[in-house]
Amino acid sequence: MAVEATAPGKAILFGEHSVVYRGPAVVLAIDRRARVVAEKRGDDRIFFDALDLGFSGYFEGETYVPVQGEIQQGRRLQALLVSTRCTMEHLDLKSGLNLTVRSRIPIAAGLGSSAAICVATVAAVGELLGGGLSMEEVCDLAFEGEKVVHGTPSGVDNNISTYGGILRYERGKGIDRFELDSNLPFVIGNSRRRRSTRRLVSRVRALRERTPEIVEQVIEAMVQVSKSGLAALKDVNLHRLGDLMNVNHGLLVSLGVSIAKLDLMVHASRVAGAYGAKLTGAGGGGCMIALSDISNLENVSRAIRRCRGDPYIVNISYEGVKTRRVN
Ligand code: MEV
Repeated sequence: MAVEATAPGKAILFGEHSVVYRGPAVVLAIDRRARVVAEKRGDDRIFFDALDLGFSGYFEGETYVPVQGEIQQGRRLQALLVSTRCTMEHLDLKSGLNLTVRSRIPIAAGLGSSAAICVATVAAVGELLGGGLSMEEVCDLAFEGEKVVHGTPSGVDNNISTYGGILRYERGKGIDRFELDSNLPFVIGNSRRRRSTRRLVSRVRALRERTPEIVEQVIEAMVQVSKSGLAALKDVNLHRLGDLMNVNHGLLVSLGVSIAKLDLMVHASRVAGAYGAKLTGAGGGGCMIALSDISNLENVSRAIRRCRGDPYIVNISYEGVKTRRVN
């Protein structure tokens, strides 16, 4: 018997970076998912097959033994190993496991691929071992893995991947989940530059320590943009949403987390008729997101492609983590 779990990636509409300090982030689950299949093994190894990410191997104790790919890639599996071990400890159960990981969420691009994989891993392992984990437990256990990858994450990524839909997430205050009646697709533009959330979050922290009198005000403006953005989203007021996305991009630029290619794609999307566009996620590479009329999505996608970005038209996914038995 094996268990498959899938979990969605995400796009942050408002509040990246500011959410690390205070105030809400407004986040959408997107219709690109990570998939993990878990089955028991006869021995006590934890074997990861992540071949579409370019590697497979197993851990014997703390030692990573690669089967395909380089030994350094084992580091990328640390988050999954931690999530898996925490799940087994939480359930007070132990087993050798085969974990097959597949994902349609680009890696290290700001779309929550690591959180989605951690969430799917916890859910698959929990269900396989018969633990009946609650959504809250899945979310918390995946957060243990997220901390390995991101250092001091706010918790936004594991929450959206677990619950799906649209979340207002605020550190220490938890989540408020809601749905829209209307279809609201977005265009995401991937700069194809990989980056590390951990590094970008610490870069902003260092800037805040050097110039607190300015950065505090930028963060405060971002908090206000998030609050107004949430109201505009609930009203599906596209002009106002677009304006606020544009302001948010400017504030993120002022924190030094954008790159020229993201700025280029943001501006090209606006010229192509988007209501607004901004980088999404930690920045430093990764992705931007544009809001446009449905009739104009292809036009915005073409503008992104002309900047040598990869455009994806995404819909909000109201389905959070899901498990099912396979075989
Ligand atoms: C990463 O998806 C979003 C950041 O705000 C970091 C975090 O919230 O942990 C940059």
